[in-house]
Amino acid sequence: MRTFTLTFFSACLVVAVKSIPLESRDTKLPWDIKVPPTYSYCRADIPNRHTYEPLMGADLVHVQLVIRHGDRTPLNPIIADNTVWDSCSRQLDTMTLADKGSLLLPLEDIGMAVQQRTFIPPENKKSFASVMYQGNCDQGQLTDGGKAMHVELGEMLREIYVEQLDYLNPEFDQDDFYLRSTNLWRTKNSAEALLKGLYPAPFWQDGRVLPMLTWPSLIENMSPNEEVCPRIDDLTQDALKEPEWKIYEKRYKPLTDRVSRVLNDTMLNAGYVDVLMTRVCHDKPLPCSINPITQKREGSDCIQRNEANEIMNIGSLQYVWVNRDSPQATEIDKLSIGSFLYDLATEIRAAMVEHTLDHKFSIYSAHDSSLGAILGSFNASDSQMLWPPYRSNMLIELWKQKYSNSYKIRVLYNGQTLIVNTNDEWCDLNECDASTFLKRLDSFVPDNLLEACNSS
Ligand SMILES: *[C@@H]1O[C@H](CO)[C@@H](O)[C@H](O)[C@H]1NC(C)=O
Ligand SMILES: *[C@@H]1O[C@H](CO)[C@@H](O)[C@H](O)[C@H]1NC(C)=O
Repeated sequence: MRTFTLTFFSACLVVAVKSIPLESRDTKLPWDIKVPPTYSYCRADIPNRHTYEPLMGADLVHVQLVIRHGDRTPLNPIIADNTVWDSCSRQLDTMTLADKGSLLLPLEDIGMAVQQRTFIPPENKKSFASVMYQGNCDQGQLTDGGKAMHVELGEMLREIYVEQLDYLNPEFDQDDFYLRSTNLWRTKNSAEALLKGLYPAPFWQDGRVLPMLTWPSLIENMSPNEEVCPRIDDLTQDALKEPEWKIYEKRYKPLTDRVSRVLNDTMLNAGYVDVLMTRVCHDKPLPCSINPITQKREGSDCIQRNEANEIMNIGSLQYVWVNRDSPQATEIDKLSIGSFLYDLATEIRAAMVEHTLDHKFSIYSAHDSSLGAILGSFNASDSQMLWPPYRSNMLIELWKQKYSNSYKIRVLYNGQTLIVNTNDEWCDLNECDASTFLKRLDSFVPDNLLEACNSS
């Protein structure tokens, strides 16, 4: 999605630099975050039933789950590309059932159905497929691997919330759930896949359907809505003009120039991450320069794996800077995700008043940019502020203490308790007073969103 907006490359091309020697870098920086070598963009961790512990002396009252979709194909095509994206054997699944509208049914129950298939005719030599983008996946589509990772997450949630905690019904009951997704195939398919893991076929009953709610994209609030809120873009550009960030830009310029030259395309860093990491995550060769005679990507100059990692790291640092540490971060987070934080807070409040909330578990299927802004609002620790990997998952659990009327919130991000930044220890998110947590959410909700989005 539209995550970063500032152009931070320059069109001026310098002498080829094969890779950037790490030693040559400035050592003292006013702002410096290290990306740990354990970071993996391709696959986020999930909770583990062996280490998961219920909160002592308390009952689970409500759960909110915010996810990023799983592994996907690239969004940015590059010219003269011969990469084949053929990892979408199970196509756009159940959601294409016209007569069932937005109802979610397991594939087994469908019977007669029309199913959409991405298909690129190989025999048409005059199609764009002969110069870029081949295979059976649409651009930005959830791949089979992307579905499998959300099935796996669903299976783990079953082990924890059905088997261990006895919280959710073992048989699928649509009344337990509230399901919302952004209106894109990869997020909708991710939610479906997760539910398939949580309730495999024997646990579905006939006629039980769960509506998947989507908002019109014009008013979508689960990810930064830059169309309606141009100020997010302005603020992001301002953040990337700050001197602390300029140091990074300068440091990485030879690398981004080189990548742009090999790709023969200039993009935002998020574009390079998209082009390179989709290939890294699929073990596909990284792009080489174009041979001027054959016009194919078989030139001698190829992007190296360590360069792709560096591009990824810049992207991660940008997440930390834009959403947490820049002077503009708080306002960016408010405008990007404040309205959705209001939805979360409203739901938690309803769950704290008995009988006003009928479901137990809410699933919000969204994006890296959604989680990035939420993490920024929570002022998450360095390693948890990095670019949210595929299948990132945030569980916000509401617990009621058995012998008092007080409520606690626990936040797990990618399987670990969310740790807040040491400079802003506003709560222990292993056991945070619900009132403190709600106050934090409230502080990021703009009074008048539209006004805030258009002011300067
Ligand atoms: C792409 O290649 C053409 C032809 O060699 C060149 O003129 C152009 O500057 C290149 N663009 C980029 C962004 O590298
Ligand atoms: C996070 O905490 C630091 C240190 O207190 C603060 O400077 C920064 O503005 C906070 N960021 C957000 C988004 O709250």
